[in-house]
Amino acid sequence: MGRWKISWGVRLFFAAFLAAVMAVGMAGCQAAADSKRIVRIALGQSESHPEYVGLVAFKEYVEERLGERYEVQIFPNEILGATQRAIELTQTGAIDFVVAGTANLETFADVYEIFSMPYLFDSPEVYKVVMGDEEMMNGIYESTDRAGFRVLTWYNAGTRNFYAKKPVYRPEDLRGMKIRVQQSPASVKMMQAFGAAASPMSFGEVYTAIQQGVIDGAENNELALTNNKHGEVAKYFTYNMHQMVPDMLVGNLKFLNGLTSQELEVFREAARRSNEVELEEWDRQVEQAKKTAMEDMGVEFLEADVEAFREKVLPLHQEMLEDNPHIVQVYEAIQEVNVRMRETGVEASAFLGEWKPQSAMEAGRSMRWRLDWEFGDGEEWQWTE
Ligand code: GCU
Repeated sequence: MGRWKISWGVRLFFAAFLAAVMAVGMAGCQAAADSKRIVRIALGQSESHPEYVGLVAFKEYVEERLGERYEVQIFPNEILGATQRAIELTQTGAIDFVVAGTANLETFADVYEIFSMPYLFDSPEVYKVVMGDEEMMNGIYESTDRAGFRVLTWYNAGTRNFYAKKPVYRPEDLRGMKIRVQQSPASVKMMQAFGAAASPMSFGEVYTAIQQGVIDGAENNELALTNNKHGEVAKYFTYNMHQMVPDMLVGNLKFLNGLTSQELEVFREAARRSNEVELEEWDRQVEQAKKTAMEDMGVEFLEADVEAFREKVLPLHQEMLEDNPHIVQVYEAIQEVNVRMRETGVEASAFLGEWKPQSAMEAGRSMRWRLDWEFGDGEEWQWTE
């Protein structure tokens, strides 16, 4: 495992090759749909997942308004490839959209490391307020423009927690354990700070890796137990709540730029609505998932000493801020919401209007500045195992 540098030339050649393969494979579908432009969306999750439900709302909204010109097709269950691969396909335009966790975007724009920072948000309420602040998020969403894609909206992926073959109550229990993390440098650092061995791999590989004992456990939300069946192989889920990592609806920039302004507004509004539908569906499904995991799969939900977990990784905040200056302003803006929520006990949304023009706008500006810096040398960090 390690990080290696790969030139843009090699990346583009690989991506072009995949694009050609996809184009041949999908030519048949294109012809069948007459002259309609097929809009393809890659999703790692299954057809019952809240994100699929959200994407159906996206599809319906677009087709109701632009159905003569566009047909939206959703490809779930990683059938177009694991997330990292699907992002590359979106980057080249072989497909038009992908739903990807921010951890998978870190290698394209390191501002996304912010969401891998453990215990960044005080509560799900703070998280939702920050994510719902379009002005602030737009600065972040634009950070991948040079990589050829742009985020349109976010989806809730809940709170991440440990789950394993044996119970974990305290950070010490993780000693000697090998835990899967997402393919993100920041997540690897986090796991090391917790005292476990980090094993980065794609989401689709986790079930078999736990089953075969390649790893001792993983970390994720409750739906991973049921929708992805991890509860069949890992029976202890610890509520230590170390991260809230959103998923993003990522669109190929050339495709978006090729739309007329009216069409673009339809796609944007469709994305907004899919976000609303997904968030509602998430809240509904998470309770059900917990019940199913307990009653049908025999998973035990453990209350953890959250403070002990937090203390263990808090020094990482400073370290990450020193290593990556591009996350500093977003971090400060989020801390501001944390503090105000703590001090006032008032719903953060009540003071968001006042907060927004200051730190959030600044954060957006710093994102745009960062882009030139990051891609200036024509090379990019790429993760491999
Ligand atoms: C969640 C998230 C996915 C992500 C996965 C992972 O399920 O919704 O987008 O890929 O976690 O841990 O890889």
